[in-house]
Order: sequence, then C-alpha cells, then structure tokens
Amino acid sequence: MKKIHLKAPKNWINDPNGFIYYKGKYHLFYQHFPYEPRWGTMHWAHAVSDDLASWEHEGIALFPSKLNDKNGCFSGSAVEHDGKMYIYYTGVRYLEPNPEDIHTCLDDKFVSAQMMITSEDGISFDNMNDKTTVIAPIEDKQIGCMTHTRDPKVWRGKDAWFMVLGSRTPQNDGKLLFYRSGDLKNWEFVNSVSKKGLGWMWECPDYFEVNGEKILVFSPMGISDNEYCNLSVCATVEFDEQTCTMNIPDKYQMLDYGLDLYAPQSTTDAEGRRVLVAWARMPEAVDGKWNGMFCIPRIAEVRNGHICFKPHPNIQRLFTKEISSVREADEAGYRISVDINDGERIDIGGYVISRRGAKIYADRSGVFRGHNEIETSFSTPEISGDIHLDIYVDKNLIETYINDGEYVISNVVYGTDSYLIAKTENSLKIYTIQ
Ligand code: FRU
Repeated sequence: MKKIHLKAPKNWINDPNGFIYYKGKYHLFYQHFPYEPRWGTMHWAHAVSDDLASWEHEGIALFPSKLNDKNGCFSGSAVEHDGKMYIYYTGVRYLEPNPEDIHTCLDDKFVSAQMMITSEDGISFDNMNDKTTVIAPIEDKQIGCMTHTRDPKVWRGKDAWFMVLGSRTPQNDGKLLFYRSGDLKNWEFVNSVSKKGLGWMWECPDYFEVNGEKILVFSPMGISDNEYCNLSVCATVEFDEQTCTMNIPDKYQMLDYGLDLYAPQSTTDAEGRRVLVAWARMPEAVDGKWNGMFCIPRIAEVRNGHICFKPHPNIQRLFTKEISSVREADEAGYRISVDINDGERIDIGGYVISRRGAKIYADRSGVFRGHNEIETSFSTPEISGDIHLDIYVDKNLIETYINDGEYVISNVVYGTDSYLIAKTENSLKIYTIQ
C-alpha cells in the first residue's frame, strides 16, 4: 500500500537512520522505542521500499547487545562497500540509570561510543557477533565530549572514507568532529570545527554535494528558547578533504519553516539525486498508539545559491489524479495545487495557509488543540515574484512546498479528519494518488 508518509507502525519513532539505496531498494532505518509511544531505550527499526512511496516494515534491525550500546543504539548512517552494507551508529551506556525508569538516565550521566555493524544483504544483522566499537568514548576534552558526541554520518570522499560527528565544546558550543578511514574499520581523528551562538550541541550532521555546492545540514540543540521548537539548519560550506577544515558560515537557512522537522538524513537515490527525509516531531501520540513520522522524501537542489527541497519525483508523479472534492481522496491524502495572490487564504479543515505581501504564512491553531507550549504560526522569508503552492495533506502532517521547494512549511496537525477545504481561489486544483 502507498503510505507516502512513513509512520511508526506502533509506539515511538524519531530520527531517520541508515538511509541508503542498496541493491535496488531503499532502506530506511529509524530510531524506535518498541514498548510505548514515548522515547526510551533506542533500537533501529527498518523499512524497505522500491520507490520511496510504499514501505514494508522489516521489524527491528539493531538492538542493544554490547556494553557500549547497552542503553541504546542512537542515530547513524549506512554506506555500501564491496556489496556489503556498513552501518555506523552511536552506542550509549548509562552511568546512572533512572531507577524508576531504566529507559532514561539521570543528569545526562551517560557515555557514547561510535559503533559499526555490517550486513551482506541489508536485511539480517548479527547483533550478538558482528558489532565493533570503532571510536571509544572520547577522553580528551579538547577533541570532543564523552557524553554528547554522536550521530556518525559516513561518506566516500575522493581518496578515503569520512565520518562527521556532532559534539559540543567544554564552553557549550556546538561542534563537529571529522574522522578519516582507508578501510571503514580504523578511524583517525583529523579535525574539529565549532561556532559560538548556534546552540550547545549539534545533532545529526549531514554533509553532501549538490549542483557543485557543498552542503552541511545539522540540528542544533538549544538554538531557540522554546524547547519544543526544533530547528534543523543548512548552509553552503567549504570543506577540504586533506585537512578536514570546514567553514561554518554565519548565514544559514532553515531546512523547513514549519519548525517541526528534525534530524534529517540524506542519501543518493537510484538516479544519483540527493534525497533527504526528516522526522516530524509530534507532541502527542495518535489514538494513544503511535508517535512520530517522516516527511515526504525531498530532493535537495541549489538554485542561485539558495538550497531548495522539492518533493521526490516518485511522489509528485503519484499525486496526479484530479478530483473535484477532497472527499474523493485516497486514504494516503491529496495534493492541492494553487497560485496564491496577496491577501488570499486556503483553509484546510482548520489549518490556514495565507499570503500577506511577499510571505507565506501557516496557522495551525485550529488543529493543534491543547499544545499551547508549541508554536502555531509560521512564515517564510520574503519571496520574489509569483507564488505557487503544492500542499500535500495527510491527516497528521501538512507539507506546503512553495515554488517547487524554494521554501517548505511542514506542520504536524491533529483533527483535520474532516478533510475540508474552504477555498478563496479559483485556480485551486486537487489531486489524489493514481
Ligand atoms: C536527535 C537525537 C540524536 C540521537 C537520537 C536519540 O533527535 O537526539 O542526536 O542520536 O535522537 O534517539
């Protein structure tokens, strides 16, 4: 079945992990707590797809089995080498577990190691016999933090393999650590970079090249005063493979202007395009049963120095069956396509998208009951020229792509079940899946 948004089959999911196109299939692993719809001891669950639109759940791939990952298999990435899948992730060990809830620890008392597991087919993982610690908890404070160093993203450079880790400095600034390897097993620390004023820890760094530009994506913690407001940012950078020096510019973009998406991860798709997914953080489980989903896979593109994220063509192609009312929409949802002029608004069962001047606004206050602690209104920066919207509507996530991904506003919502649209705009068209 077409799922479009990959959702937790039950209980809890957070970050996408190990996203890779491997032996003709897309593999998306993800952070998973299998017992309740809340965060706890992390496992990697696994979903597989032929086309990024319909997903099969494969159950749990990684679970705690070693001292170094005894309290969780945190986020990480996958690469292919000589036909094998190599997975790198962060193993977490609590020094002081919470006696009343062993799935959490007290006062951030834990240590983190970077670990590796391989698979011949991308489906079976030998958690008991095939895990190796490739980077032990870091003792040297000048290099990184023993606690907050995590989320290895590995990629093939020109002459070697590279790994970037998110970390923090002793002064509480975000930091990146760069390692290099010739054989994927032995990793040598090369360099670190940090920057003041951009949060205290940088989670889930990702680095890739698109249209000749080098792009860094990461999720700084503590960038906003509101702890519920999670931001992922991206910027074009310089990176030198010899020295692993990277300049982190002052100017950065939001990955998404709805501020719900977090911890994105990218890979290359079957056609060599850069495709990215991110976790849509939800404040409340749906029907008390599941919490967490992923946005539509997006293609990253640089247009005139600006990083854009547009829906993957496999998804765009699906939403092309025109319908005259949302009541005819498939359960997977629908797409609204509309040119929007100054002063116009579109009301999707209480979720309101409007244009004032050169900006697009989204207001979810009507469909976000009881979550006053979290932002409900959002806007883009000023946009020049005409504005076209493609709005992908699913019961719990609405994604508005502005001018084919120049900006995106994605919001978690509750209670648009009536799937109503009040329109003020004649050019509006509705499409469901083929
Ligand atoms: C980001 C994050 C990662 C960590 C994982 C734990 O949401 O905190 O830094 O590896 O989630 O679930």
